[in-house]
Amino acid sequence: MAQIIDGKLISAQIKEELKLKTNKLINDKGITPGLALLLVGDNPASKSYVGSKEKSCAELGFKSIVERLPDDVNENTVLEFINKWNSDPTIHGILVQLPLPKHINESKVIQSISPKKDVDGFHPESFGRLVIGLPGFVPCTPAGIVELIKRYKIQTKGKHVVVVGRSNIVGKPIANLMYQKNQDANSIVTICHTAAPDLRYYTKQADILIAAVGVPQIIKADDVKDGVVVIDVGINRVEDSSIEKGYRIVGDVDFDSVKEKASSITPVPGGVGLMTVAMLMQNTYKSAAGEVL
Ligand code: GUN
Repeated sequence: MAQIIDGKLISAQIKEELKLKTNKLINDKGITPGLALLLVGDNPASKSYVGSKEKSCAELGFKSIVERLPDDVNENTVLEFINKWNSDPTIHGILVQLPLPKHINESKVIQSISPKKDVDGFHPESFGRLVIGLPGFVPCTPAGIVELIKRYKIQTKGKHVVVVGRSNIVGKPIANLMYQKNQDANSIVTICHTAAPDLRYYTKQADILIAAVGVPQIIKADDVKDGVVVIDVGINRVEDSSIEKGYRIVGDVDFDSVKEKASSITPVPGGVGLMTVAMLMQNTYKSAAGEVL
């Protein structure tokens, strides 16, 4: 039976640490971290994520602004909000919740955010810095994974990390973080994706398996080797009529069977998801404190 990597506990610790630091920043320097959030449309998952980000700001003593815009809003309106926040000195972080509706150019919107306020770490400048190993904003979910690995003292040096998924939000950045030559990484990295003729061939080789595909419970016990460390990034809604809300959340990993073979594993919920919000708060704090760029 595997050690459970407790994202609820670690994210609460990080938020507690940040709350103290925020108090000090406000008292010593008169700076209140400010985060602007922009949500377009009615996607239930996006609404819930933005709600929890707003709530975390309140808990930590941050200022937050939330713009909720209708699905048919035009691209210029979105860009105007970002422009306004780019030049607002009380705003230290700008986050546009993804995905955006098809008629809005996501890449253009991301690139309109000042790299100095890019707390999501999605701007090409932030990604370039991450790859080169320069200081910059690290995307929140990958940063959360690194933090969990670090706080649970999981060995990474020379280990084979297999990342399943190549999204800009998780797969690409976490793969690039894990081969960096530093204490928290120094791993050998494989990225695999839908074009792999036999996914299991790759996943079975993983010392650390990072699943970020968005397919419910696609990783089964037969897909991993004994003693693997499993980081499950999936947050998938599956229908469940036995629950009042009609669905439950599962990861990309079949937790019940895989935990019998793994040495450590993140649960869903209660794993990586909560870390994403904690790291967003950390990025916003660091931006306000002038610790990033
Ligand atoms: N959609 C899914 N994950 C994220 C995230 O970390 N940030 C933003 N902005 N949108 C997302």
